[in-house]
Amino acid sequence: PPTHVTLPSGDRMPLVGLGCWQSEPEALTTAVAHAIKVGYRHIDGATIYGNEEALGEGIKQSGVNRKDLWVTTKLWNGKSITTRITAICCLLMLPLGGYIDDHRPEDVIKACKRSLELLGLDYIDLWLMHYPAATDTNPNDYNDIKVLDIPYTETWKAMEECVDKGLAKNIGISNYSRIELENLWNNCRIKPAVHQLERHPYLPQNAFMKYHKEIGLHVTAYSPLGNTNPSFADRDPLPPIQKNSAVVALAAKYGISPANVLISLQVSEGCSVLPKSVTPKRIEENLKVVQLTEVDIRSIADATKGQRARYCDFSEIIGYKYYEGLDDSD
Ligand code: A2P
Repeated sequence: PPTHVTLPSGDRMPLVGLGCWQSEPEALTTAVAHAIKVGYRHIDGATIYGNEEALGEGIKQSGVNRKDLWVTTKLWNGKSITTRITAICCLLMLPLGGYIDDHRPEDVIKACKRSLELLGLDYIDLWLMHYPAATDTNPNDYNDIKVLDIPYTETWKAMEECVDKGLAKNIGISNYSRIELENLWNNCRIKPAVHQLERHPYLPQNAFMKYHKEIGLHVTAYSPLGNTNPSFADRDPLPPIQKNSAVVALAAKYGISPANVLISLQVSEGCSVLPKSVTPKRIEENLKVVQLTEVDIRSIADATKGQRARYCDFSEIIGYKYYEGLDDSD
């Protein structure tokens, strides 16, 4: 199977990257250092994960040359002051002096530099706009979110300037719907290099994938294991994908784990993929990719037909209907 994708800039991005969402900072440093030691060259972080500093520390501990690594991070659309500062302000009952929103064009470059400082790097390989919406969050109530009128096309222009300044080598997007993607694609100077979205057999998004192929936009799949994080167990109405009969059968056929089948599925369908783990054995296991055949891929689609789940729910909070326009085959 392929190991890299060449982006429009000419940069080659490794197809399997370590996901860092929901990794506690301390565990993440160890996980990143271990992942790099066993062969990962792509790490996917984000400002809102609150662990960019820990990610950077893991990179430092690995001792591997910066230029041999691919580091992605993301511009957050809401308040991005660290949780530590928020906690201190709440404790002292200090007003936070208004909300910070990094989508305002004048704040974008500052956010980029802040990420670089936390990571301990002087450039980002891939910088993504985390969501196509700008929000204000009440620091005392995370469910109190207000959508702001800052067009993502304006935010994007400021991200383009970060490419001009050499702070980010590539820029891309995450969690965009088809309408938003079309709008940005047709109204930008530098086209997004990557679209990172949730993708697994419960959310294959076939029609949307086809559109990405048509316009030549590479897709990175997050939550390829259908997000088996225990914190989602209550809301998940579907059986774990790793227990799906087709997935289990393919695992036996190739002598690999069900997780490997799900990661291989993404690569076999032309995507890069970001399995998240802080468990050393799983981190090692998740790096193994096999090329699945068309018949293998169809067997998974048939065995999950009509079963749909999305694990990332922030989009619902901002009133963004991801399922809208998805037909049954999606
Ligand atoms: P942990 O980090 O404790 O090892 P996704 O990438 O779909 O978001 O899934 C991430 C979740 O899947 C995490 O809870 C992670 O747990 C778990 N996970 C990662 N790799 C494996 C694996 N090979 N087998 C089983 N569970 C895994």
